[in-house]
Amino acid sequence: MQLKTINDIQDISSKRVLVRADLNVPIEEGVIQDSTRIDEFLPTVDLLLKNKAKQIIIMTHLGRPNGEFNEEFSLTPIYEYLKKKYPSIKFASDFDKLDSSPLILFQNIRFWKEEEKDDEGFAKKLASYGDCYIDDAFSVSHRNHASNYGITKFLPSYAGLLLQREVDALSSILEKPTRPLTFLMGGAKLETKLPLVNALLSKADHILVGGKIAAELTIQDPKIVKAIDYSDETKFDIGPKTVEKFIEIIRESKTLLFNGPLGFFEKKPYDQGTIEVVKEIAKLSREKKLFSVVGGGDTIFALGKYKDDISYCSTAGGAFLEFVEKGMLDAIKVLEKDV
Ligand code: 3PG
Repeated sequence: MQLKTINDIQDISSKRVLVRADLNVPIEEGVIQDSTRIDEFLPTVDLLLKNKAKQIIIMTHLGRPNGEFNEEFSLTPIYEYLKKKYPSIKFASDFDKLDSSPLILFQNIRFWKEEEKDDEGFAKKLASYGDCYIDDAFSVSHRNHASNYGITKFLPSYAGLLLQREVDALSSILEKPTRPLTFLMGGAKLETKLPLVNALLSKADHILVGGKIAAELTIQDPKIVKAIDYSDETKFDIGPKTVEKFIEIIRESKTLLFNGPLGFFEKKPYDQGTIEVVKEIAKLSREKKLFSVVGGGDTIFALGKYKDDISYCSTAGGAFLEFVEKGMLDAIKVLEKDV
């Protein structure tokens, strides 16, 4: 699908541009633990600055503050981070007091209860602060909220560079994958993975299942290979026979989608099964024998030092899974180019 992009914006130097990003990064005691989502978004800001947009207003959510102000979810650490790169950036907590500063970060949009309700009046109010809208928040595209969905009814809307890159990467492997296409999945929440398994039965050649969900998944299909042994009686990690079987199938694959650690990764030594499989994925990807795509914060964390070998790492978790399951999401569909 073709999306409207920043290059489609006419006469941008006369326009106030509202940009929805997903800068929902892990923060502990005011310190950003992983800045990937911010760093991956910056090329969009740089392009808007290069194209001399009249004003750039960045909106994002952080965490789940339930519609009210909560210092714990303030964007101050993100603002400080951005300030190092853009010293003139301003931080605004009140839309009604916005000035004409060329670059503004707006406070956590989920401090307003209307945001998650996709309140039409709120979306319209947000829209009134811009002349056009850019959605660069792929990782929240599975939510239809005011700042990433409702707003598109009121402003000409375009895809940012990161959103476009994510959609291009995922749709190309879902629509025309180099086969065999294997989906490797783990994790603990069967309810989020079950619809995915059902959807992937028609798309993937193999579905390899580890993690807690392997024991719970009852669907039978020749494409599905579940863990066949565990590292010990706790069943917190897949065993050597499973590692060997998974690696054998991955070696025959040309494209691999991976989401969800294969064991209780946070607790050593139950990270071993995942590490063994990841090592092989990294090696095959490095040698260009496999195109590997990984999504989900905990899965990317599990890649550790092998992350750089992976062909494509998505910044999204829930949105990655829903996009793979459905092939499209409403908040992205509204950015489609008329042909
Ligand atoms: C994420 O981290 O997956 C996105 O930012 C969406 O956050 P949410 O699950 O709180 O909507």
